[in-house]
Amino acid sequence: MLSEKIKQNLKNIISKYEKKESAIISILHEIQKEKNYIEDSDISELAKLTELPYSKIKAVLTFYTMFNSKKVGKYHIQICRNISCHMAGAKKIEKYISEKLGIREGEVTKDLLFSYSTVECLGSCGTAPVIMINETYYENVDEKKIDEIIEKLKVAK
Ligand code: FES
Repeated sequence: MLSEKIKQNLKNIISKYEKKESAIISILHEIQKEKNYIEDSDISELAKLTELPYSKIKAVLTFYTMFNSKKVGKYHIQICRNISCHMAGAKKIEKYISEKLGIREGEVTKDLLFSYSTVECLGSCGTAPVIMINETYYENVDEKKIDEIIEKLKVAK
C-alpha cells in the first residue's frame, strides 16, 4: 500500500516530466526509498492513481535490477556476477556472504537486516569484484572488507 506521503508527492514528481510515463522511474525510486521493495499491490495502486497502464509500470520495475519486487532486508546486497567480477572471484564472494549471513539468494535474515541477490554488471568493472548495498558501491571487495561492511551496518541499524 502506498503511503500518504507518496500519494501526495505523485503530482509533484509527474509535473517535472514532459510525459507522465517518464516519471515512472522517479516514482518507483520514491516508493523503494520508503519501503525497500515494490509489491504488485503498489503497482496496481500507482496505475489507478496515475492512469498509467499496470503493464507499463511493471515492465519498468522488472527491467531494472535496482528495483526490488520482492521483500528484501533493510540492507539489500547486490553482488555483481558479470564477467570481470566473475573472474575476480564473485562466486567466492557470494558463497562467503551467504554463509556469513546464513541465507540464500532471495532470502532475508531473521533480524530483517540483510538480503542479497546476484545481478548483472554494476558498471564498475575496473574495480571488480563489486557489490552494492542499497545505493552504495563497495569495490575491490574481499572477505575482510565484507566483514567490516556488515559489522558497520549491524551497528548502524
Ligand atoms: S562486471 Fe562487475 S561491475 Fe562490471
